[in-house]
Amino acid sequence: MGYEFITYEREPNSIGILTINRPNVLNALNWDTLGELREFLEDVLPKEELKALIITGAGDKAFVAGADIAQMNEMKERDFQDYVNYAHRVYELIENESCPSIAAINGYALGGGCELALTCDIRIASEKARLGFPEVKLGIFPGWGGTQRITRILGLGKTKELVFTGEMITAEEALRIGLVERVVPHNEVMNEAKKLAGAIAKRGPIAVRLSKTAINAGSEMDLQKALLLEKTLVSLCFDSHDRVEGMKAFLEKREPMFTGE
Ligand code: COA
Repeated sequence: MGYEFITYEREPNSIGILTINRPNVLNALNWDTLGELREFLEDVLPKEELKALIITGAGDKAFVAGADIAQMNEMKERDFQDYVNYAHRVYELIENESCPSIAAINGYALGGGCELALTCDIRIASEKARLGFPEVKLGIFPGWGGTQRITRILGLGKTKELVFTGEMITAEEALRIGLVERVVPHNEVMNEAKKLAGAIAKRGPIAVRLSKTAINAGSEMDLQKALLLEKTLVSLCFDSHDRVEGMKAFLEKREPMFTGE
């Protein structure tokens, strides 16, 4: 895999680590980085059959400091629309990836960086992380899903406060309002992300993946349809070999050996 702006490593227990790798510009996302992400997500990731994917940023300072402002500054309106559409496509690929994803937020997660973290299922932040949507300071607003995904997590008032002011918040504040799930010491972010990924990886992979579908798709439906989806998917789970193994292992007082079948 000859990437320039991203790196990918596979850990032994079917955990993948995807790193945005432009530390000189705090991992800002330019066209080429988005292109590499898309190629990775479409062509490589499906074959990996991961149990969890961790997304992080290279260096010690930033997760991702947003879209590349220098590159945006050179764009004509039509290029900008293409750029936004492209970013949306990439972010939807992450959000809809069937295996669970964890954002290991090791520093600034601003604008498109915070939006990237929001496409992940779970967010772990360094105590040094700063999160926010500074776009209004640039004369735009969060347009890579930010106004929509964040509203679904924080509600209208908090979203508007963050988006209208463009102010950054601390990791502790992000934890308090539910923008991240855990805050850990700076040097522990990746360890904690790996530990969490490892805990998920031990569970029945079909059950984890289908529960992600039930939660994500169900959250966009009215309750009756969402409950119907839940019943259908959990019944599908019941039909799996992993369900037989999981229940048998419990009754035999041993750890289950899930195969993903
Ligand atoms: N796009 C392009 N380049 C960026 C960038 C971005 N989103 N964020 C940071 N960089 C570059 C800086 O221009 C600088 O490059 P230089 O060394 O060639 O001057 C380098 O990354 C380091 O950033 P710097 O601003 O010097 O670091 P800092 O510690 O003083 O400040 C931030 C850190 C995150 C507060 C500041 O970089 C910032 O505000 N970045 C923009 C965030 C933003 O508006 N994101 C939304 C974009 S839509």
